[in-house]
Amino acid sequence: WPFFLAAGLFGYLLGSIPFGLVLTRLAGLGDVRKIGSGNIGTTNVLRTGRKDLAAATLLLDAFKGTVAVWIAWQWGPNTAILAGFGAFLGHCYPVWLGFRGGKGVATYIGVLIGLNLWTALIFCGLWLIVAATTRYSSLSALIASLSAPAALWWLGEGQMAELAILLTILLWWKHRENISRLVSGTESRIGKKRDEHG
Ligand code: G3P
Repeated sequence: WPFFLAAGLFGYLLGSIPFGLVLTRLAGLGDVRKIGSGNIGTTNVLRTGRKDLAAATLLLDAFKGTVAVWIAWQWGPNTAILAGFGAFLGHCYPVWLGFRGGKGVATYIGVLIGLNLWTALIFCGLWLIVAATTRYSSLSALIASLSAPAALWWLGEGQMAELAILLTILLWWKHRENISRLVSGTESRIGKKRDEHG
C-alpha cells in the first residue's frame, strides 16, 4: 500500500504542474485564468491568440501524464494505472492553485498514450472529428472521452477501463459549466477569442 500511494503521489505531483499558467506567465501575458473561460488548459491559452503557447501547453499537459505512466510502469501495470490517475487528479485539482486546476483533456490523452496507444489515437481521432464539425472544444472532449472506457474494455484491459470510467466521469464533472453553455447555446467556438468569463 505505501508503494501504491507513493506512485499515486508521484503522478499527482507531476500532473499538478500547471503548464498553461506557467507558459502564459513566462510570456508576459498575465494570468490566463482571467480571460475566456478562466481555465488553464490549451483551449483557453489559445484564446490569448498565441497558438505556439497553446500547442506547448497541449504537449506538456499530455506529456506529464505519459511520463507518470511510463516511469511507474517499471513496477507493473497496476502501479502505472495509479500514477496515471494521480497525474489526472493533479492536473484537475493541483494543491498549488487551491485545487482549482484544468479540465483534464490533454492529461487524459497523455495517460492513454502511456497505457494504450490505440485508445489514445481513437480519443484524438474522435476529438478531431467533432471539433472539425462543431468547432466546440468542450463537446469534442466530452464525446471523445466516452470512447476510452469502451475501447479499453473491448481490448480486454479491464483495470485500465475502470480507470478510464473514473477519468471520464471526472472530465464531465469538470466540464459542467461548458455543458450548461452548450445547452444554452452560449459556448464559444474554437478560433474565437473571448474576454469575458462564463
Ligand atoms: O480543454 C478543455 C476544453 O474542453 C474546454 O476548455 O476553456 O473552453 O472551458 P474551455
